[in-house]
Amino acid sequence: MKITIVGTGYVGLVTGTCFAEMGHTVLCVDNDESKIKMLKNLEMPIYEVGLQELVAKNVAEKRLSFTTSIQEGTEFAEAIFIAVGTPPGYRGQANLSYVEQVGRQVAESMTDYRLLVEKSTVPVNTGEQLKRTIAKYLREDIPFDVASNPEFLKEGTALEDAFKPDRIVVGVESERAGTLLRKIYQPLIDKSGCKFLQMNIASAELTKHASNSFLATKISFINAVARVCELAGADVEQVAHGMGLDLRIGPQFLRAGVGYGGSCFPKDVDAFVHLADQLGYNFQLLKEVQHINKTQREFMMQKIQHELWVVQGKKIAVLGLAFKPGTDDIREAPSLYFIPQLMEAGAKLRLWDPIAQENFNREHPGLKYYDTPLACAEGADLVLILTDWPEVKELDLAKLKETMRCPVIIDGRNTFNPQTVKELGFTYESVGRP
Ligand code: UGA
Repeated sequence: MKITIVGTGYVGLVTGTCFAEMGHTVLCVDNDESKIKMLKNLEMPIYEVGLQELVAKNVAEKRLSFTTSIQEGTEFAEAIFIAVGTPPGYRGQANLSYVEQVGRQVAESMTDYRLLVEKSTVPVNTGEQLKRTIAKYLREDIPFDVASNPEFLKEGTALEDAFKPDRIVVGVESERAGTLLRKIYQPLIDKSGCKFLQMNIASAELTKHASNSFLATKISFINAVARVCELAGADVEQVAHGMGLDLRIGPQFLRAGVGYGGSCFPKDVDAFVHLADQLGYNFQLLKEVQHINKTQREFMMQKIQHELWVVQGKKIAVLGLAFKPGTDDIREAPSLYFIPQLMEAGAKLRLWDPIAQENFNREHPGLKYYDTPLACAEGADLVLILTDWPEVKELDLAKLKETMRCPVIIDGRNTFNPQTVKELGFTYESVGRP
């Protein structure tokens, strides 16, 4: 089948590539000329393991191509997936101007039936608004449908998630739209055995909000438990393990740390709170989830201050700038909270990240970067771990101690066994562990 994808960010590019690999013929549209130029040269605008190879393969096999023309995209396929950005706007609600713009442009170019599928994370009732926009800008009475098909992939494991989804959720309001989406996904359903859930549009939109907010709640819950563990002399890792073995709870997303970041959870929880407020429900639980996430970082900052007493002039080696391992994405990363604060307090910062250095340098130029965690830690008064990259987990701790001025580690990701690190002579502070 032919499919058009508008937007070549994480969601759009990965979805498009996945559809092509499934055997469909996919045209990816983006109004950013430099991105399309890069993609035509088989250079990736984002970092994702295995993506470049898969894009190159599908381009070579003529199932994947790129354009800046939305008109070409509209003519190309019956199903048009919208995967453009929905950045946070005024007071936390999602800015839907890019979604609206695509709706308008498709409506103006349409000559035959089209199905517009929301793939970006959008507030409930966006489908309704999109329908109204398309109807308004259509030149003649052409049939069309709107559907919601939220994406659940994670950065860093995007391809794996796209090929092995837990479920496919589609929200439709016509049989034609439902059948078309089912047909598009059939090869993936056959291969992965995943469930295909068909519901109304508002329910599909809410499924995405509720899923991300629930995962963020799990993280804030375990971070709050970690705070109690520190007060009670308990170990949050053991508590999380004990909880996670209960099948009703499950072990995932119970890792305590410096709090959640990234382009999704902070923005989506914010948008859900705002949306609920607008609809007339005060989602106090999620407001507390946000509060815990914020104070978790402040709490770690206090640990640094407590350890150093005076931050001014101290050499601090920061290991990890990306919001999690496996990505160069620094959006809402903990590093963006800690580094400006430590700079302001007069610390001499030394930074390391295997792939996110370039992105971070764009936001905070002029800082010093090092090629390895060990080089970064040379002469440091304190090492601060913000991303649990494999290179950090595999650090030779004896060498680390030798190279540092003072062997102090503040570990925001519970990377090491506290006993081992302490036996080596480090002062070690992590999250929720005695
Ligand atoms: C998240 C969801 O997991 C995806 O299902 C969803 O599709 C995506 O948002 C989206 O809406 O596009 P992502 O933001 O890529 O995916 O990253 P996650 O792996 O979920 O991690 C988010 C943050 O939570 C990271 O900062 C991570 O370090 C933190 N985290 C995660 C914890 O602190 N503890 C955990 O146990 C798990």
